[in-house]
Amino acid sequence: MKQDMIVVLDLGSTRNTDVARAIRALGVYSEICNYDIRLEELKKMPNVRGIVANGGPNNVVEGKKVVLSQEVLESGLPVFTFDYPEGPENVSMPQSDEEIAQVLKKFVFDQCHATPNWNMENFIQDQIEAVQNQVGDKKVLLALSGGVDSSVVAALLLKAIGQQLVCVHVNHGLLRKGEPEQVVKVFREELGANLIYVDASQRFLSKLEGVSDPEEKRKIIGAEFIRVFEEEARKLQGIEFLAQGTIYPDIVESGTKTAKMVKSHHNVGGLPDDLKFDLVEPLKMLFKDEVRACGVALGLPDSMVYRQPFPGPGLGVRCLGAITRERLEAVRESDAILRKEFAARGLDKTVWQYFTIVPDFRSVGVRDHARSFDWPVIIRAVNTVDAMTAQVPQLPWEVLQTVTERILQEVPHVNRVCFDLSPKPIATIEWE
Ligand code: XMP
Repeated sequence: MKQDMIVVLDLGSTRNTDVARAIRALGVYSEICNYDIRLEELKKMPNVRGIVANGGPNNVVEGKKVVLSQEVLESGLPVFTFDYPEGPENVSMPQSDEEIAQVLKKFVFDQCHATPNWNMENFIQDQIEAVQNQVGDKKVLLALSGGVDSSVVAALLLKAIGQQLVCVHVNHGLLRKGEPEQVVKVFREELGANLIYVDASQRFLSKLEGVSDPEEKRKIIGAEFIRVFEEEARKLQGIEFLAQGTIYPDIVESGTKTAKMVKSHHNVGGLPDDLKFDLVEPLKMLFKDEVRACGVALGLPDSMVYRQPFPGPGLGVRCLGAITRERLEAVRESDAILRKEFAARGLDKTVWQYFTIVPDFRSVGVRDHARSFDWPVIIRAVNTVDAMTAQVPQLPWEVLQTVTERILQEVPHVNRVCFDLSPKPIATIEWE
């Protein structure tokens, strides 16, 4: 690891990622650690130049008042605190990112003397070496969904280990319209990667039959995914590693000691106990915008790098409650219409994520002079930098009307279209 690092210690703040991102924006690498990290663990981390301890309301974590340990305070490393009155140097957390950056700039450069050497070229070089050291001459299996994260992992691993990388694209029956075909075309035909295509739609849909709890659905999909890979690996033989497109928000939101779990993200949860693989997760310390920058630096085309994110459990978390074929098709078809109409107006370049949801309740309508009792489609469109918070952009009324008309005319069993205006927080981006 070549980069200098500033460690952000989480003392119950909700702004840890803002602080870590602000430090990275200064060109210095930063990681978030729990408040009770031991000095020996800190010493094992490479090139730590300073510590920012990040307090919150009353510094309470899981109902317990937390304090900075004496050994960390006496480590000899410069320590800066936000919202922690007991700190040696303490400042209230400013509201705007610009102010946070200004405050941190002095600390990071004047007191810690950190070198601003955090950039994608260094990151990629570090990761290539790390992967080569970890993997040796063994083979690595990659779950290639075709989304931004797994595509960037594929490009990075192709650079690091070439044909030792075996990509497996599993069609779990919850992909968007035309997606499996496109993944095969781009990766197998254009990039020359080792790619195995597995159609497991039936298997996933039967496992999910009748399951309505969102967490249970996520766990089933995650666990089934891993099993499919295990089976592929056994067929292939000699596979010891599993690569994943886990990114930093997946880890932070899946719950650390100090951050409560929001939802079990597909890339982290669901690993069975008898798992035989060691994990290769080269992007696990990157925020989403950094993953895109990494993809660009690796030479991936913009169309792949700036594609909107798509969750691992796919349309499964957008077909709410117990999945049925009828509603799943309604999600898939309405999503295809929304994507087409957004692209036709260039909104695919300005809106970060946009999709449709079909809930598991019906409403009354009237079609062809007769009563209908059918499903609603909900349109969701959000802008965000890192998916930790999100805002709903103002969209041209005309596009919403066109999408509504098309969905009502073209998608069977749908009689109503709604638009979700909720920001994150209080809502999350996905509905499940
Ligand atoms: P939420 O719903 O948590 O979503 O606000 C934040 C971002 O993460 C995506 N998402 C996932 N991505 N595996 C993923 O790789 C998952 O299980 C998963 N669940 C949500 C979501 O689409 C949004 O961009």
